[in-house]
Amino acid sequence: MLRAGAPDDGSEWVFAESGYLLLYALLGGSAQRTASVIPMYEALFDMKKYFITDSAILNPTRRRCNMKSMIRVRISAADVHYGGNLVDGAKMLQLFGDVATELLIRRDGDEGLFVAYDSVEFKAPVYAGDYIEAVGEIVSEGNTSRKMKFEARKVIVPRYDLSESACDMLDEPIVVCIASGTCVTPKDKQRKG
Ligand SMILES: CC(C)(COP(=O)(O)OP(=O)(O)OC[C@H]1O[C@@H](n2cnc3c(N)ncnc32)[C@H](O)[C@@H]1OP(=O)(O)O)[C@@H](O)C(=O)NCCC(=O)NCCS
Repeated sequence: MLRAGAPDDGSEWVFAESGYLLLYALLGGSAQRTASVIPMYEALFDMKKYFITDSAILNPTRRRCNMKSMIRVRISAADVHYGGNLVDGAKMLQLFGDVATELLIRRDGDEGLFVAYDSVEFKAPVYAGDYIEAVGEIVSEGNTSRKMKFEARKVIVPRYDLSESACDMLDEPIVVCIASGTCVTPKDKQRKG
């Protein structure tokens, strides 16, 4: 049974996922035929950037969990902590915490708790004025645990070299941080089974 992403995942995701499902329907419900045209579809609409993993149609793990969330925020001058306008890496973990909370609310109807990160990598510096998209996905579930993957990427940057208010929308987002971790929703708090 195929499921599209949750309807309020973010318009790009819904658009991309709807496209996959439309292709799947047009190609007679064949995952194999859909798989063969997906690279063309992704290249045409530049869809790859909206996904951490492949389409739910092709990825059984995502088909089971298929739970994603995204927030986009502007990093303020108040977040600067180091020389050269550099922002504390913990700010990215704060964003992932909010993404995780939303994922748990969707999944369990409860905020749950973050129990552990098993990996965090800071890939590029973040500065005041950057727009950051933080995305997350539940990749597997235990009894009370929900394992998640996260990615933060820079989508808009200030261009102080041009003027104090100039900014660029990046053609290719810059990945600034990736992480994976586990959250827990205690059994008695789970409201969705
Ligand atoms: C999260 C918390 C409630 C878990 O307590 P608990 O339920 O007694 O913990 P348990 O040892 O029974 O483990 C619960 C689940 O988490 C998993 N888990 C525990 N520690 C883990 C770790 N370090 N990494 C991955 N998974 C872990 C267990 O395998 C278990 O999974 P399962 O239920 O799917 O089998 C408790 O540790 C806590 O309150 N921590 C503080 C949370 C917090 O304040 N976070 C920051 C703000 S969100």
